[in-house]
Amino acid sequence: MALRFAPLMVWVVACSTAGSTDPQSPHGFRVFEAQAGPFEAPAAVDRDPDPTVVDISLEAVPANITLAPGLTVPMWTYNGIVPGPRIEANVGDTVRIRFRNFLPDGTTIHWHGVRVPADMDGVARLNGPVASGDTTTYTFVVPDAGTFWYHPHVRADEQVERGLYGALIVHGPDDPPAHSSQTLVLDDLLLDQAGELPTFEDVSPIEAMVGRQGDVLLVNGRAHPLLELSATGRHHLRLINVATSRYFRLSLPGYRVTQIGTDGGLLPTPRLVETLMLVPGERADVVIEALSATPSDTPLRLLPYERGHGTGGGSSATVMTIRSTAEVVNQLDDMPERLRDIEPLPEPALRRRLVLGESGGAGHGGHGDHGAPSREEAPEGAAEGEPPTFSINGKSFPEGEPFMSTLETVEEWAVVNDTEMDHPFHVHGFRFQLVDATGAPERAYRDTVNVPAKTTVRLRMRLEDHPGRWMFHCHILEHAERGMMGEFEVSGLSPLRPSPAP
Ligand code: C2O
Ligand code: CU
Repeated sequence: MALRFAPLMVWVVACSTAGSTDPQSPHGFRVFEAQAGPFEAPAAVDRDPDPTVVDISLEAVPANITLAPGLTVPMWTYNGIVPGPRIEANVGDTVRIRFRNFLPDGTTIHWHGVRVPADMDGVARLNGPVASGDTTTYTFVVPDAGTFWYHPHVRADEQVERGLYGALIVHGPDDPPAHSSQTLVLDDLLLDQAGELPTFEDVSPIEAMVGRQGDVLLVNGRAHPLLELSATGRHHLRLINVATSRYFRLSLPGYRVTQIGTDGGLLPTPRLVETLMLVPGERADVVIEALSATPSDTPLRLLPYERGHGTGGGSSATVMTIRSTAEVVNQLDDMPERLRDIEPLPEPALRRRLVLGESGGAGHGGHGDHGAPSREEAPEGAAEGEPPTFSINGKSFPEGEPFMSTLETVEEWAVVNDTEMDHPFHVHGFRFQLVDATGAPERAYRDTVNVPAKTTVRLRMRLEDHPGRWMFHCHILEHAERGMMGEFEVSGLSPLRPSPAP
């Protein structure tokens, strides 16, 4: 009972202060002392001596995870840790993952952003979930260098929130020189008063509408970790937003922050950035350098961002602290001005239009300012509110037919956001280039992009190498699981496999 009531209470409190706070973090964020200690998740153990094969075991298993001193939470994990082990490979390696499911529910592992064959993509409808107690093996080649991640594709809103996620790093020959390299897996967790995750059944309409936002910010599974870095060094950070719905808009005052990579690996040229926005599912590679050689502590700040339905009212918060030290480092070569070449994709052979829709739930039907009912209506109003549904071209997945596509063609998709909030749009199996208003493709590869409310984003992709059935969806996982998802079928013979004997 306590579990079921908790999210409603959070929501009721939010109503009295609508507009000034995040609907689901009415008191802002819980504050923690900076925690020293190992910063990254341990790397996965590669059991194959062949340097071009990465062979690891992953077990999905419930475990108690200590997020901060005195705060231990029952979660779902890979190998008993959150995040799961960091998988490291070199571009072109074969990765083999022997997976066993010790969870009470079926699950899969999806390799977000990695261009794998369709039957290795870990999406339940195509590959079937791995039942409780069962095993499977995923094998694929990693064709692109970059920062990727892995997570389930079954009830992902619940399973990812419970802690099932990990980084997958693919190293390439062009990675620029740095004194250190760290992966930052960014998450937020909502805890109830018992210090546990609130129920995933009967969630409030506001949670269904905007997604679950937590009050505990996590980097690599810890609340407010401390990272020590030489004040005179150049440091490579790989950031991954694994939160189900939170947008991480970040700033690091006192540092020069240069973005060198997106979802799909290195940019052609480094870009200086003031703030960095990572929507759910998205990654960025940056290089940071302290502006002052004097050792000091700097907070990595989360800035408010309005993505619709009153989500932008929160105050800023500290995600982690970077402590610059007096450690002396050797001189590195200058940052290269060119990181790599990316050819813009040609004019598409086919254009599609995908209209993102939302209906029902909080925010529609005459509720108060920010889609929250008045105090008097709650909690009954919360329990009885019509849950929202989400759609693409009017179909709420699994309704609707897949798009039919042809291998090796270039398609351009106009993703039209007809709703009152932003949606981070993600495509499986292929990488895309954004196309601007003049029709010019961006020289960067991505697989996840924000589509702000009431705008259209165009993305162009070549359907390379991997025929089969693929998914696309909003990466606010509460939206994906409520219908904002679809499929496309790419037909043709894979150039990467021998053609069948006549
Ligand atoms: Cu990380 Cu289908 O997504
Ligand atoms: Cu969405």
